[in-house]
Amino acid sequence: MNRKYRKTVIAGNWKMNMLASEIKPFMEQLKENMPKTRPCDVVLCTPAVMIPAMLKAGKDCKVAAGAQDVSKHEKGAYTGEISASQLADIGAKYCIVGHSERREYHGEDDMLINAKTKALLEKGIAPIICVGESLEQREMDLTMEHIAYQVKAALSGIDASQLRRCIIAYEPIWAIGTGKTATAEQAQEVCQGIRAVIRGIYGARPARAVSILYGGSMNAANAEELLAQPDIDGGLIGGASLKPADFATIVKATEQGA
Ligand code: PGA
Repeated sequence: MNRKYRKTVIAGNWKMNMLASEIKPFMEQLKENMPKTRPCDVVLCTPAVMIPAMLKAGKDCKVAAGAQDVSKHEKGAYTGEISASQLADIGAKYCIVGHSERREYHGEDDMLINAKTKALLEKGIAPIICVGESLEQREMDLTMEHIAYQVKAALSGIDASQLRRCIIAYEPIWAIGTGKTATAEQAQEVCQGIRAVIRGIYGARPARAVSILYGGSMNAANAEELLAQPDIDGGLIGGASLKPADFATIVKATEQGA
């Protein structure tokens, strides 16, 4: 983390979990466990349908709402899709784009992710852009080439003033939901590489100001070490975000260096 130049963000990704009836007890437990003064921005990316209930139950919890996906279209005949203005309308301030599960199971490519990123920025929602390599790519020593391409494609046509609202999440695919975390050194190396790619496009100042998160089996036990790395400005947390006490512990882990 580097609080002097950029925001620290802990974002939960509930994926397709939780029922409406579980939200209130979850938020109550979260509030009980959260540090009294908030050391970072806290976001919960819930299924879109649950955003209003999460905001209502978490009213005094200071948690911002995020969605997990958005349509690239503004409005119209796109059955099943949710637009950025509809997300903004129900209180979403953040939205994940390009999660590896969407890339893999829904065939999302880098061009679509770029279009979704732009759709979000237009409506004032901060995109959390996910990038990450497969195990094969890592073993073939293609990690940084692959990630540089993903970052450049996602940010294509986005100017420096819009970049300020973007968050990048480095999520090695082999670490997601597997219990296998990248080592702090591996995660730092790639996050530093991502910042260098951004520096190459926008220059030093904008690159210094972008928050880059790590995601992939981040949990209450390993968060502190990962967050101590200079280019890791927070976390995108799946499994552990479904456990309020663990999620709160990860938030507390950002207190270091405050
Ligand atoms: P995980 O998921 O923490 O369960 O590995 C992270 C993510 O997919 O965003």
